[in-house]
Amino acid sequence: MRVALIALVSGVLVLSVGYVNAQHHMHQGKMEHGASAVDTREFVKFPPQLVEHTIANMRDHLLALQEINQALAGSEPEKAGKIAEERLGMSSLRLHGAAEIATFMPQGMQDAGTAMHKAASRFAIQAQNVGVTGDLKPAIGALGEVMAACVGCHAGYRLK
Ligand code: HEC
Repeated sequence: MRVALIALVSGVLVLSVGYVNAQHHMHQGKMEHGASAVDTREFVKFPPQLVEHTIANMRDHLLALQEINQALAGSEPEKAGKIAEERLGMSSLRLHGAAEIATFMPQGMQDAGTAMHKAASRFAIQAQNVGVTGDLKPAIGALGEVMAACVGCHAGYRLK
């Protein structure tokens, strides 16, 4: 019951953080580009193979979130932390060829990417702590910040 309540509360938290973030971004998009259409995302031109590589990588990001959630639910917080660090965190940067890709990104998009990598590494630390404290809440909150970084970048930029 308590766990269900925590999950519910953090779910609402995650949603609202993501919403505020997206709203914020949309607002900025309007100010910077004067676009009033529904899709205010900035188009970013990547070389074609890099578009496919990035989009495929994105699907792995989503898969990683699923696996993290399942590991948390299965009382394997350390596994959740490891997935986050390796696939989304600072350790994943080389894996993604981030340095090369970053040269094609506007500064705001680079910052959104960095925010995600840092949030994932912070989540990994919180997930490690669960093993000691037994309290899932800080880890779930940190996972919400990772998702907010996904939402923030998606609200601002497109590749196609
Ligand atoms: C730095 C920016 C950025 C971050 C951070 C980011 N994404 Fe993306 N993502 C994109 C862009 C750009 C697209 C392509 C959108 C388009 O062109 O319509 C995309 C597309 C996707 C897609 C669609 C893939 C497909 O097959 O079409 C998924 C799923 C996705 N992202 C998941 C995630 C998840 C989950 C996270 C966070 C863990 C995340 N992304 C973080 C920029 C980002």
